[in-house]
Amino acid sequence: MTTILLHIRHLVNTRNKSTVLRGKELAQLPVINNAYLVIEDGIISEFGSMADLPASYLTSGNVIDVKEGTVLPAWCDSHSHIVFAGSREAEFVDKIRGLSYQEIAARGGGILNSANRLNATSEAELFRQSWERLEEVRRLGTGAIEIKSGYGLTVEGELKMLRVIKKMKEKSSLSIKSSFLGAHTYPLAYRDNHRGYINLIKNEMLPLIAAQKLADYIDVFCEEGFFSTEEAEEICRAGMELGLQPKIHANQMHHSGGTQLGVKLGALSVDHLETMDEEAIQALAHSNTIGTLLPTAAFFLRMPFQPARALIDSGCAIALASDYNPGSSPSGNMNLVVSMACIQMKMLPEEAINAATINGAYAMGLGTDLGSITIGKKANLIITRPIPSIAYLPYAFGSSLIRGTILGEDRMIN
Ligand code: NIG
Ligand code: FE
Repeated sequence: MTTILLHIRHLVNTRNKSTVLRGKELAQLPVINNAYLVIEDGIISEFGSMADLPASYLTSGNVIDVKEGTVLPAWCDSHSHIVFAGSREAEFVDKIRGLSYQEIAARGGGILNSANRLNATSEAELFRQSWERLEEVRRLGTGAIEIKSGYGLTVEGELKMLRVIKKMKEKSSLSIKSSFLGAHTYPLAYRDNHRGYINLIKNEMLPLIAAQKLADYIDVFCEEGFFSTEEAEEICRAGMELGLQPKIHANQMHHSGGTQLGVKLGALSVDHLETMDEEAIQALAHSNTIGTLLPTAAFFLRMPFQPARALIDSGCAIALASDYNPGSSPSGNMNLVVSMACIQMKMLPEEAINAATINGAYAMGLGTDLGSITIGKKANLIITRPIPSIAYLPYAFGSSLIRGTILGEDRMIN
């Protein structure tokens, strides 16, 4: 089927060639003003200026007048935990009253709280709740998402989560990648037996996950009080032997060494990065690993924001993601993530949009298929209401500017 979009005020992130962007390249956001775009069977097949539109296109195929809306690649959210059971607003209130994230975790709250609920929830119900979140982020303009396990912490619980993700992959128009995060925290039964849990991950969880092809990546929460760099390395290497590339939770609360570990292992991304020093920044800058920044997690935990300027100015490749999860970022709103990156981290609108589209796509292994307006890529698109400029998107941080989305052949336009 052919679909033609006409009267696009700004067609954003148009690229003949697609590569991950680092350093200064992030500020280059190619735009065609007053443009058209042709989609052939869900794939971008042609685009250009309305002035060059062949007259025959007005009568061929399925024509959509976007009425001066802006069209950009749908958000590529390369870090989320949207498969979870229930919510944790009681801990949110505890935090308002003064408890820290670590204090809540130490008394059995936090990830362990979510794990208890998840293990008590049926697979069908877990799918229902998670599907609702997927539909929610789709309406907010997300067209691709990486989803992690890590709230099971038992063989059955982790497999249940990964099966739910697999089912979502099969059923959804969003492009989805899954990461095995069995090493999210030590379950209570293994609090004093780290070796036992690491062996469970290596000898029982990973072989089953690999045999059933339930994960694309391996993740570890490398952090004081969670998994040390040595433990994280052992677990990542076990995953790598089974073909799973690492994406690591690194440098969130402490100088964990997680960034350097990710670089050493050739991780696809190291994520969070609230707490960075020059050594970690330089290690990342001189690697192919992408640094994924999660500003809504820093915001929600009242932590210093990630040092985006230092990372970009040092030449790093940066992506932005939501971290949607019940404990540190109960929001999957990538529009807010992009705004917050501009407002609090001083990223330019161009840098933030690149980081949330093309670099986000690369940070989940989808860079050749998604994240830019490039011939041959899947037509995952956001259509906005008319806006005066690209900078208006992050500027109007509380407004609902999205008129609709196209994900391949699946359209949702008001
Ligand atoms: O990415 N930091 C570790 N994991 C999640 C939070 C998990 C939770 O609190 O439930 C994160 O922020
Ligand atoms: Fe996370």
